[in-house]
Amino acid sequence: MSSKNKRVLVTSGLPYSNGRLHVGHIAGAYLPADIYVRYLRLTGREVSFVCGSDDHGVAIMLTADKEGKTPAEVAQHYHRLQKADFEGLGIHFDVYGSTSQTKFHAKTSQNFFLKLFEKNCFEKKVTRQHYDETKQVFLPDRYVKGTCSFCDTPNQNGDQCENCGKVLDIETLKNPISVLSGKPASVRETTHWFLDLTQFQGAVERWLEKAEMRDTTKNYVRSLLSQGLVKRSMTRDISWGIPVPLDDPDAKGKVLYVWFDAPIGYISNTMQLCETRGENPEQYADWWKSPDTEIIHFIGEDNTIFHCVIWIAMLSAEGSFQLPKAVVVNQFLNIKFPDKEVEKISKSRGTAVWIGDYLAEGGNPDVLRYYLTAIAPEKARTVYKPEDLQLRNNTDLANTLGNFVNRVLSFTLKHVGNEVPAVDQSKIADADKSFVLRFEVTQLAVTGQISDYNFKNALELVMEFARECNRYVDEKAPWVTRKTDMETTKVTLCCGLNAIKLLGTLLAPFLPFAAAQINKALSIEDPKWADASRPLDPGTPIHSPGILFTKVE
Ligand code: MF3
Ligand code: ZN
Repeated sequence: MSSKNKRVLVTSGLPYSNGRLHVGHIAGAYLPADIYVRYLRLTGREVSFVCGSDDHGVAIMLTADKEGKTPAEVAQHYHRLQKADFEGLGIHFDVYGSTSQTKFHAKTSQNFFLKLFEKNCFEKKVTRQHYDETKQVFLPDRYVKGTCSFCDTPNQNGDQCENCGKVLDIETLKNPISVLSGKPASVRETTHWFLDLTQFQGAVERWLEKAEMRDTTKNYVRSLLSQGLVKRSMTRDISWGIPVPLDDPDAKGKVLYVWFDAPIGYISNTMQLCETRGENPEQYADWWKSPDTEIIHFIGEDNTIFHCVIWIAMLSAEGSFQLPKAVVVNQFLNIKFPDKEVEKISKSRGTAVWIGDYLAEGGNPDVLRYYLTAIAPEKARTVYKPEDLQLRNNTDLANTLGNFVNRVLSFTLKHVGNEVPAVDQSKIADADKSFVLRFEVTQLAVTGQISDYNFKNALELVMEFARECNRYVDEKAPWVTRKTDMETTKVTLCCGLNAIKLLGTLLAPFLPFAAAQINKALSIEDPKWADASRPLDPGTPIHSPGILFTKVE
């Protein structure tokens, strides 16, 4: 939980600008961060929500090759599309920068590299590496295939054998073939700068024990650390990226490793944000170097080692930035189509549900947000089932939430008037009192779950409350009491309206569009978490909320 009174810098892992976004991306690093940011803002906290595209790396070069474009064109193309996908889902960053376009990024990354260089954190080493003679490029491990020399299984990736699980390298991969050209790969010598992570093992271990993260993450990182850290090359022999800023003939034509510059994108995008706000870009330091601010990263599981080990080592080595307070990691989301097995979400195998398609087909962003939170892969991998999305829409959103909000508001508007009624205190019964007692209890429980980054549990608590709301109205049956006892009816409706108010605030982080409709119906312009359980003032104008969720048959 972020500490009271501190400002919070929230980041989501910078997506590679190398394709459209699918539901797995959103469930991983973006939706939970957006929920958390919205929650913090409702509590009055000052927050900056920073993201942007990760434009470098070999994968983007490959796509560029395939599409007959330059890497910069590919990056810009998908940057725009991804930005639109986020906006369509109500995932609202304060800045959505880019590691190839944000003007502060290259310099900031190079200065970071130089500072580490001056502190002797790198070791310059000659290594042997696969090379594609036709394409004239060095080949990273995942662009070479060959035969495992341990078990003789052919067609294995350059880094690991799928059959025997052994780690493969340039010496143990036989008959290497370049994935780029399909031709045999040769071997050449090349010089690189290796960050000596062993120097920071202690710093990372100390950070790990204090940092907030899920148990699964912490145990995983502990096990990584127990194997001992090594030296990792922070430079690459490719043409697309940020030039290695060294005055050394061996550095010529080399760029920074994408995982070196990408997390620095959090910093350079913060500078961009400050500038956009009309401040001096150097005020980024208020977020990165001030004890009044806390940094929280949201990422997907495959990014864990980079954020919880290498990035922490980089920051410790640099020395002037604060370390993140928390790293919130979601596991992968798998997918299951009707009559099929559970599969990985994969673009090449056509098993993805694309955000762009969902929105273009008129899909309600809140419905997807709801479903992805209800099945959030927080503790383990979970499974997206397209037909479940519809089921959840119909049962939870339309029948439970939408129905309650609608029936109470329309009934009040029709039979009482277009204001919150004043009630006769003597008509308040035990059932009303115990219902209203549930408000603060619910809110407290939801607050606790959100503070612990358990968004799935938090949302489930809100839905459970919505079910209670329906039961309350069913029991009180205002449509019956209305004929004989208008004062009792008003009590019921008033409690119902106050419950709607609570729902409107508690749901605002999760379902921002529906919550805005609800709050508008109650004339609440600026909902506040602290006021959520407080009753509406009698006389407050009320309106019809319109249709919140449509049932899909
Ligand atoms: N681009 C990476 C991915 O999509 C994430 C980068 S996160 C950052 O897996 F730290 F580098 F920004
Ligand atoms: Zn093998």
